[in-house]
Amino acid sequence: MTTEPKRILLIVGGGVAAYKSLELIRELARRDIRSRVVLTKAGAEFITPLAAASLSGDKCYTDLFDLTDEAEMGHIELSRSADLVVVAPATADLMAKAANGIANDLASTALMATDKPVLYAPAMNVRMWENPAAQRNVERLKSDGALFVGPDEGEMACGEYGPGRMAEPVEIADAVEAHFAKNAAGPLTGKRILVTAGPTHESLDPVRYIANRSSGKQGYAIAAALRNLGGDVVLVTGPTNVPPPKGVELVRIETAREMMEASQNALPVDCAVCCAAVADYRPSIESEHKIKKERGGLTSIPVAENPDILKTISQLKNGRPRLVVGFAAETDDVVTHAEVKRKRKGCDWMVANDVSPGEHCAMGGERNTVYLITDEGDEAWPEMPKAEVAQKLASRIAKAISGPTLVKAAE
Ligand code: C5P
Repeated sequence: MTTEPKRILLIVGGGVAAYKSLELIRELARRDIRSRVVLTKAGAEFITPLAAASLSGDKCYTDLFDLTDEAEMGHIELSRSADLVVVAPATADLMAKAANGIANDLASTALMATDKPVLYAPAMNVRMWENPAAQRNVERLKSDGALFVGPDEGEMACGEYGPGRMAEPVEIADAVEAHFAKNAAGPLTGKRILVTAGPTHESLDPVRYIANRSSGKQGYAIAAALRNLGGDVVLVTGPTNVPPPKGVELVRIETAREMMEASQNALPVDCAVCCAAVADYRPSIESEHKIKKERGGLTSIPVAENPDILKTISQLKNGRPRLVVGFAAETDDVVTHAEVKRKRKGCDWMVANDVSPGEHCAMGGERNTVYLITDEGDEAWPEMPKAEVAQKLASRIAKAISGPTLVKAAE
């Protein structure tokens, strides 16, 4: 993998969301991605070239054709000096120009002249976004190979509600990172990896279900970290509120049985990481109608055992993944219980964590303290953010399964 920092050309259009582009420059810098900014004339009404230059640590190019700018770096060179062009906010006007090949200012000329992929983060009023002309331009840009992130749905600066709000800087930075990861050769390039994440919901009747407190954060972070190393990741996830990582194949399910089916459909894989908090039991009968209190209601819930995905994959006779990783959430004797579980399920590694309630509870929280249990013994990892646990685990997985690929993704 290249260690050179990636560079983007950030074109900031004239929308109120331009202020978020300043935060985007910082967010990208945190991920070691450098920005060089082009500000349209309208963009410069919302943020100043000085702010953009100060945050990016580079000259900010404005729409005014300036002989000094052209002498320093011509617009053609500017448009090709980056690894990716990001347009944020991408206004209706900028996208209309790009979709129709109009080049009458620095930003639109750079978009015409670039030989690099372009990622648009649209931002406009909901009615403008829904206007057929805007949608036509988006479709045309997509068919020309452009990438898109957002827009999100929500309250807008103009007071209306709906789709059109620019994606948050973190979301745009995730999309940029996912693009680079997808195109970078890493230690997991060519390796297919299954990750299960989140809780499962087991229906009792049309309105009620049994679930658990899993947020999906750790599994999502693992999927992103594996993707960052070049892995071809299938993420089978139960219902969560966290945005899923980009650049992975996402399969949404609700129940344990659906998770089992989706996981089996993802096979064969080189590695399976079963991070999901799968319900061990489901109500044995799912009522077609809402269960009424007046009719005696619920005094007990008869249950049936759910299939064990980790165990099934670990004990496959044919096409067992080279490495199967399970998770063990425990509240006491964490390592001992996890070691027993590793043997019982037949997986290679077990990542064990303490989920006792408290200030530092891993379930739903941002940090995690884990033990990695392998044939070689137990390792206690210090408490760290879930993203770091994910990176550390992903690089261990990469070491363990690098070498010739054993399986091919299903056609
Ligand atoms: O037995 P327990 O639920 O504690 O085991 C946890 C591990 O087993 C996790 O890796 C979890 O994803 C996996 N598991 C599974 N299918 C189940 C239950 C647990 O894959 N039905």
